[in-house]
Amino acid sequence: MRVVVENLSRSFGSSKVLRDLDLTLEPGITGILGPNGAGKTTLLRILSTALAPSKGSIKVGGWDLSSPHGRTEARRRLGYLPQEVGYYPRFTVFQLVDYIAILKELDDRGERHRRVRTAIDAVGLSAVAGKRIKTLSGGMRRRVGIAQAIVADPELLLLDEPTGGLDPEQRMRFRQLITSLSADRTVVLSTHLVEDIAAVCTSVVVLWQGQALFHGQPAQLRERADGMVWLADAVPDSALLSWRTEEGAVRVIGPRPSAAAVAIEPTLEDAYLLVTNCAPTDAQLR
Ligand SMILES: Nc1ncnc2c1ncn2[C@@H]1O[C@H](COP(=O)(O)OP(=O)(O)OP(=O)(O)O)[C@@H](O)[C@H]1O
Ligand SMILES: [Mg+2]
Repeated sequence: MRVVVENLSRSFGSSKVLRDLDLTLEPGITGILGPNGAGKTTLLRILSTALAPSKGSIKVGGWDLSSPHGRTEARRRLGYLPQEVGYYPRFTVFQLVDYIAILKELDDRGERHRRVRTAIDAVGLSAVAGKRIKTLSGGMRRRVGIAQAIVADPELLLLDEPTGGLDPEQRMRFRQLITSLSADRTVVLSTHLVEDIAAVCTSVVVLWQGQALFHGQPAQLRERADGMVWLADAVPDSALLSWRTEEGAVRVIGPRPSAAAVAIEPTLEDAYLLVTNCAPTDAQLR
């Protein structure tokens, strides 16, 4: 389903967290990339209907979130992994996922339990389905959160830092899971890991101080850094960013630092750093 956000703003007191955001999210996997405090969680909370916008319009598959009926219909179709899940510590994994499935109006007990088991299996937690959540590790709890988000087969899946705290093998499993789910649905995930974006996302939004600095395909973001990444032998004065690599050379993002510098192929991370470091400062936005 398509999500259309128009002119969305959200403030907390005098601080403007989202500013006149326009975004159209299509089926596929969209990654929201941005530094701490950029507004990623705020945006996902608004899309999940947990938080109201200060201004602007949001349509989820045609349902308008400004009306109670629209919100109810949208809730029926979405799954949400909050950045911090409020678990019931004494629930077992199965009970928690089943409880969410009940809230999602899966009334047929047999069919619901089948779906609960499928979701728990998809995140590799079948062996601990009967264990209380408080006895699980942080990464396992994160996976319980993913299981409850997917249990009712949502058309819109909102995942706030789904790979936070996952070990490398589980991150890879998560990527496989998300890719297998995404064929006909809209997945929106926030992350700090540019590798997550490169691995699974069909579209990327760079969020910076509540505005979208970039929205397009990952390859288009990478192209932004073409001709802007160099290997030099000394730290230049003029670069936007530079750091010493393991091999001892200095990797430079910005204009050519010296005649001897060698242009290299940019990575997605270079492009992200370039886009966010060229962004106007907070003072300029006010
Ligand atoms: N309920 C709230 N009350 C006051 N300020 C808030 C509230 N929620 C968020 N903020 C502020 O809004 C800004 C954006 O927060 P948000 O959690 O959306 O960022 P984020 O991009 O998810 O960051 P992170 O990468 O750290 O998760 C921050 O400055 C935060 O302090
Ligand atoms: Mg966040």
